[in-house]
Amino acid sequence: MQGAPGRKVAVVGAGAVGSAAAYALTISGLATELLLVDINEAKAEGEAMDLAHAAAFIKPVRIYAGTYEDCRDASIIIFTAGASQKPGESRLDLLHKNYAVLKETLPRILRGGESILLMVSNPVDVLTYAALKITGLPPERVFGSGTVLDSSRFRHSLSRHCGAAPRNIHAYVVGEHGDSEVLLWSIANVAGIGIDRYCELAGIPPVNRREVDRQVRNAGYEIISRKGATYYAVSLAVKRICESIIRDENTVMTVSGLIDGQYGIRDCCLSLPAAVSSKGRGRALELPLSAHEEEALRRSAEILKTAIKEINL
Ligand code: LAC
Repeated sequence: MQGAPGRKVAVVGAGAVGSAAAYALTISGLATELLLVDINEAKAEGEAMDLAHAAAFIKPVRIYAGTYEDCRDASIIIFTAGASQKPGESRLDLLHKNYAVLKETLPRILRGGESILLMVSNPVDVLTYAALKITGLPPERVFGSGTVLDSSRFRHSLSRHCGAAPRNIHAYVVGEHGDSEVLLWSIANVAGIGIDRYCELAGIPPVNRREVDRQVRNAGYEIISRKGATYYAVSLAVKRICESIIRDENTVMTVSGLIDGQYGIRDCCLSLPAAVSSKGRGRALELPLSAHEEEALRRSAEILKTAIKEINL
């Protein structure tokens, strides 16, 4: 039985992030067909069964475990396979082992077709670039979750300080989804009002930028040190990206993708705001940044390009 055209989603990797993403998609009603794939077939089957048994509580969706090859006609393939950070480990520390997983599985998952490949496995920016090279697909159809989660963490911190709803907070994190990420203070705003001006008008103390930067940049480490992994927020970021694709929303998000000259940066993938639609990721926007932010973004790009060289791409 085929789902409605265009709403089959495949999740590769049924670990904590993959199964949480499958859960988020299951309750979202976005997909009519949800495929779970894992090298541990029993795990994928168990996750699929556990989700499918919610049938009476959710919109109709066919949920099943399958093979890498079953991914080929999916509209969206979400790649979460590989190791996750251990306490104290950086995302870039995962590079060699997760690149090996990607090289091994990607040729089996994608062969022609029109799928959009959404990379989530870390280090997501380097693996997104590697996926582009391995598949040869057009850059709009291969992109990563990038700093969509970090931008949400930034908005969460600002929302708590300003007492405004997160939906009124516009704040972006760009660059690497990792230690060199860049919080864009110069364009952060609450309902269109600059952060500092908003705090003045609301009669609240100015934001402690150093503290917010620390909270956002180290959030992954802080959570991993407490519960061993992160998976809820990143899986909801993945669901949100899928929603913008499936509903052809053109929502502007800081997904990770090929940078082709913005700020003089080339030959790497990193996060900049871009519109996400049924066609995939639009061209990354070259926002007006402060000199400090632009310098930090270039530094982040250099760190990612060094990592790309490590895997000889
Ligand atoms: C985090 C993982 C997804 O930042 O890298 O929680």
